[in-house]
Amino acid sequence: MTALDPPFDVADIDLATLRQRQSAKYRQYPADVIPAWVAEMDFPLAEPIADALHAAIDRSDTGYRSAEGLPEATVAFLEETWGWSVAPGRVVAIPDVLTGVAQSIALLTEPGDGVVVNPPVYPPFFSTIRDVVGRTVVEVPMRQVDGVYSLDLVGLAEAFARPDVTAFLLCSPHNPTGTVPTRSELSEIARLSDEFGVAVISDEIHAPLTLPGAEHRPYLTVAGPDARAITLVAASKAWNLAGLKCAQLIGTDLTADIVSRRLPLEVMYGTGHLGVIASVAAYRHGRPWLDHVLDILDGNRRLLGDLLAEHVPDAVYTAPEASYLAWIGLPGWGDDPALGILRDARVALNRGPTFGPGGERHVRMNLATSPAILTEIVDRMAAHAPRL
Ligand SMILES: Cc1ncc(COP(=O)(O)O)c(C=O)c1O
Repeated sequence: MTALDPPFDVADIDLATLRQRQSAKYRQYPADVIPAWVAEMDFPLAEPIADALHAAIDRSDTGYRSAEGLPEATVAFLEETWGWSVAPGRVVAIPDVLTGVAQSIALLTEPGDGVVVNPPVYPPFFSTIRDVVGRTVVEVPMRQVDGVYSLDLVGLAEAFARPDVTAFLLCSPHNPTGTVPTRSELSEIARLSDEFGVAVISDEIHAPLTLPGAEHRPYLTVAGPDARAITLVAASKAWNLAGLKCAQLIGTDLTADIVSRRLPLEVMYGTGHLGVIASVAAYRHGRPWLDHVLDILDGNRRLLGDLLAEHVPDAVYTAPEASYLAWIGLPGWGDDPALGILRDARVALNRGPTFGPGGERHVRMNLATSPAILTEIVDRMAAHAPRL
């Protein structure tokens, strides 16, 4: 490979090869179903990551994690990507972002407190708040005009003013709508957080996948070092490493001390050793692969718009500003269109209603695949569209 060769050719991706994978995406449904649901990518692993993992296996390096190199690699990536300066000592290795969300809520709130979310939103947010940490979900739905979504700052101000609300779980970029909060929205959240003493837990797992035209701003670069906040980042979504179990929790001057005193040791040791090795390789050497993937995703989000306009003209779709999840309204397809699409079109999408209020009559589609597979997905949907 020369420096100018792309890391892989997306046209080489085919379903027969993908079906050899044993991950959730390819094992949940029968072989005649095209899986476009869970947030895993169909792309081949980045070579520097594969090399690091092969080397670890070759030296039988499969013990508990040491986190060696992870803080330094993480802060270098944050600095060069967003100009966000973080001291390496502030980076805590954790198994995954949802564990970080649960632990952050547990550390910064009391049982029964209200935690704000913005539905439609990533479904495990609801169960984590309610069932894992025993807090109450307070919904401030996203504002939506013709399929374009934004945070409802007035609704957030009202919720933050409630005495029972002590935390806000921000999803930035937002899953499933693909919106990237603006600097002024983040400033207003920081101001409200200060005014009402509400902790902000910022899930930024999709941030490295911000697409051309949008600019991600890490919440802590806006909120400042003494914010009552914790941010969660990871290489897992951007480089498809979710099964290796490694994410990073970053506190502030105010919260880092709470984290270091009270985060259970077993949480830190639950981090995957191979996940640490893969994340270090991703942050240090994964940029060319990531840039190539961003190009493909940029093309796919536009291709999907063209395909829907031609074959499923009643679909309501705004291309995501970040990541590879398309949020599609299908007003004439019933309350839960993914069910019929799975049954009749043999395509597995995420069911909109599981994302909370605003999810009815919607599906979430995974675009991290080849243009050919994406085209086949829409062809299948169109062939089975309800007759209106
Ligand atoms: C917004 C968001 N947070 C968290 C997760 C889960 O991350 P992890 O596997 O690190 O818990 C996902 C997975 O898609 C996600 O979209």
